[in-house]
Amino acid sequence: MDALATDYSQISSILSGEHSGKQVKIRGWVHRSRTSGGLCFLVIRDSTGVMQCAVKKDAVGEQAFTDASSAFIESTILIEGTVKDDKRAPGGFELAATQVQLVAKGEPFPIAKDQSVEFLMDTRHLWLRSQRLTSIMKGRHYILKYLREFFDNEGFFEMTPPIITQAGCEGGSTLFEFDYFGQKAYLTQSSQLYAEVFTTSLEKVYVLAPSFRAEPSRTVRHLCEYWHLEPEMAFYNQKMNMEVQEKMLEFVAQKLVSNHTDILTALGRDIDKLKAVKAPFKRMTYEDAVELAIKRGANIKMGQDIGADEEALLTKDEEKPMFVTNFPCDIKAFYMREDPDNPGTALNADVLAPEGHGEIIGGSERIWELPELMKRIEENNLDPKNYQWYIDLRKYGAFPHSGFGLGIERLVKWTLGLDHIRDAIPFPRTINRVYP
Ligand code: 4AD
Repeated sequence: MDALATDYSQISSILSGEHSGKQVKIRGWVHRSRTSGGLCFLVIRDSTGVMQCAVKKDAVGEQAFTDASSAFIESTILIEGTVKDDKRAPGGFELAATQVQLVAKGEPFPIAKDQSVEFLMDTRHLWLRSQRLTSIMKGRHYILKYLREFFDNEGFFEMTPPIITQAGCEGGSTLFEFDYFGQKAYLTQSSQLYAEVFTTSLEKVYVLAPSFRAEPSRTVRHLCEYWHLEPEMAFYNQKMNMEVQEKMLEFVAQKLVSNHTDILTALGRDIDKLKAVKAPFKRMTYEDAVELAIKRGANIKMGQDIGADEEALLTKDEEKPMFVTNFPCDIKAFYMREDPDNPGTALNADVLAPEGHGEIIGGSERIWELPELMKRIEENNLDPKNYQWYIDLRKYGAFPHSGFGLGIERLVKWTLGLDHIRDAIPFPRTINRVYP
């Protein structure tokens, strides 16, 4: 058999019943194996699923049988055989092998059952083959696909920003600084300021890129490197901005429900909870949210930022995500426009996901008038020199605009129902991990 031939069947197509009774070839890796006497059962996986193969010594010959029965977990293998309906086999079909060929036996696979989280993180490059991480990575793929589809349908352009920058966007404390040929530079915290540039030519744009946060937090929802979707829209106010966000979240949740129950079921996700994600979402002001959180037992004072504990209290009876609006300007970033109807508060909103997942989006209307921007840059002790190009945008053809940032891994964690953000990204970067 030739590993590079193009006539292999995918396991999912065999399990769909398409090849029942026919002769097929499959190509993949040994997921499990069990031998007794002259019969060896191999469970083989490919990218589409797993299926059982029965390898009989009488049918394949001495050498092929020895190869099959001595294969390790994860050995690469080619099998040809007849597809048999078999209710006892996982998926309802079994391949009765007529030919078996080991492509690479390799070495005994180091990951067995019940390994510690640390060990699984050290062997992440191998653990990514697990059924669970495979399902999550497929889910992540579809979530990214549907986000792009949503913005494409809505007439947005996708733009690519620089990752190396000279100005912070979200405050100095979480910047990763490095030496750039003798100048100070940073890994970008957010592409928002560049997305704002693109609105001046393309009007409706989004950026999907990594953002970096030197977060000393060890939590289930913080990464030091995460993927950030940042749409920015010319001639949109905060109300219109929020409507885009709820429509986008509804689109992604409903696409997952309609097209990917297999992935959701494999991950044990309660699908009814995702079905409920339909616009409009509840809107609550920061002030009301803090009062409610206090009433529910939170230890927070008016004027402080809302953290994970308060978010959990606020969303505990919610079926859908909710907006918390109008945070005090002085605890929010410099670029957020003040609400003329509620002075001292910003025209902003965070989206809190239900089921304890918490903040997944931060967005706002942007300051677009020059004097207001200069005042906020000064109040935030930022050096206008570093923001000259951003300030220029207010000098030449300024206009009202709004945008938001969605943390992709936070969305993946919530929609797929994961306990920890580290599983929402293939190679998580956290305070104590940059390997592998
Ligand atoms: O609220 P943040 O810091 O807002 C911004 O960066 C804005 N410039 C976005 C914009 O308006 N274009 O971050 C936005 C989102 C958060 O709601 C969260 O989902 C995610 O980015 N996020 C993180 N995700 C994982 N790990 C971290 N350390 C994160 N920090 C923020």
